[in-house]
Amino acid sequence: MEQYIIKGGNSLAGEVEITGAKNAALAILAASTMTDDTVIIENMPDEADTNILLATMNEIGVFTHRTGRHTVRVNAAKARDMVIDNDALKKIRASYYLIGAMLGKFKHARVVLPGGCAIGLRPVDQHMKGFSALGAECRIEHGYIVAEARELHGAHIYLDVVSVGATINIMMAATLAQGQTIIENAAKEPHVVDLANFLNSMGARIKGAGTDVIRIRGVERLHGTEYAIIPDQIEAGTFMMASAITRGDITVRGVIPKHLESISAKLKEMGCEIHEEDDAVRVICKERLKSTHVKTLPYPGFPTDMQPQITVALGLASGVSIVTESIFENRFKYIDELVSMGANIKVEGSTAIISGEEKYTGAHIVAPDLRAGAALVLAGLVADGFTTIDNIRFIERGYEDFYVKLQTLGARIERVEDERSGQKFRLKYA
Ligand code: UD1
Repeated sequence: MEQYIIKGGNSLAGEVEITGAKNAALAILAASTMTDDTVIIENMPDEADTNILLATMNEIGVFTHRTGRHTVRVNAAKARDMVIDNDALKKIRASYYLIGAMLGKFKHARVVLPGGCAIGLRPVDQHMKGFSALGAECRIEHGYIVAEARELHGAHIYLDVVSVGATINIMMAATLAQGQTIIENAAKEPHVVDLANFLNSMGARIKGAGTDVIRIRGVERLHGTEYAIIPDQIEAGTFMMASAITRGDITVRGVIPKHLESISAKLKEMGCEIHEEDDAVRVICKERLKSTHVKTLPYPGFPTDMQPQITVALGLASGVSIVTESIFENRFKYIDELVSMGANIKVEGSTAIISGEEKYTGAHIVAPDLRAGAALVLAGLVADGFTTIDNIRFIERGYEDFYVKLQTLGARIERVEDERSGQKFRLKYA
């Protein structure tokens, strides 16, 4: 079984290049099937989630080819059917983006219900409400979401909750509907804007992405394009947090500093120095971190996908911190693992009360999901002794070359596949 083994204790320093945003890539890949022309996508991350979606697109007759590690060519002219019935796809959340894309293009879609990280209930009612408003008949049957319409027409849709997925899905379907669609209370996340820019580069007419009102004038068809995906806000944030946790000096390169502001602001409150350049952010941490309070919120608030990483950092800060998770109701499952490493954290409902400890101690732990898994790696980097992390497939779903990038920054971390390589690592750093 694949594991990461870490010998904690090194401060991390140096530069790390950030890859394309996973969540933008998934939406953009789905949207690339909405035209029969060829689409070239650059800055495509090479990680499990995007590769699963690419493989599924192949299975339904979409031609996809990675012409370089980070460039993908897509042609969906021969996409042959609408049934997405793939075991692997059930594991990724973004499988449902194919519904919006296919509903727009073919006016019907049948896609297996999405999986993704088990971080709480993940309903799809807002997606279905949007599709219905556009004139589709929507239902869930036999584990599938089915959406069918004779024709799609524009509509005025008010989302009951700010949902990234519903905003993206409705935006895709509405792009090929007749007339104008207005999405109110839309999500403002950078990848919502990236998808809108991508669709506009294919001939869509979308305005207002990045605000809470998005206006979409339907068009008859979309054409090919060449487009580069934005850098990954959460990967960048994770390395920024690695710098804070290890009292390091890390520069994340190839980023959009504006997307990282809520993270930079918290790191400043915690006593880190932040230096911004046009496309880089440097995080320097020389002393013990200070406590602070954090509440996760939709963008531009502090991202829920950074909640585990900042909790790991606050577990070592002086004083008491409170972290409130307001997006997903079951996103503190990793805390038990962190407590086994010496953290002093009590969870009450959606709140974690953290009394900062002086140190963590290495342990054998399990990654419960993608972001929490990455956060536990960060804890291992600073823990006394060795930490072994199981279930790293979760982490590799959404971080390209994670352990290699950490090694480059000075971390003692290895990916091992058998007992023997694990023992070799332990002997090397004993
Ligand atoms: C996306 C991201 C995920 C991130 C999350 C919040 C992708 C592939 N995933 O997930 O990494 O953590 O945004 O930033 O981009 N909700 C409903 N009904 C719906 C849809 C959502 O009640 O129909 C609720 C959810 O339960 C949750 C909240 O809305 O409480 C936000 O969820 P949403 O923004 O939709 O998250 P995802 O798109 O699933």
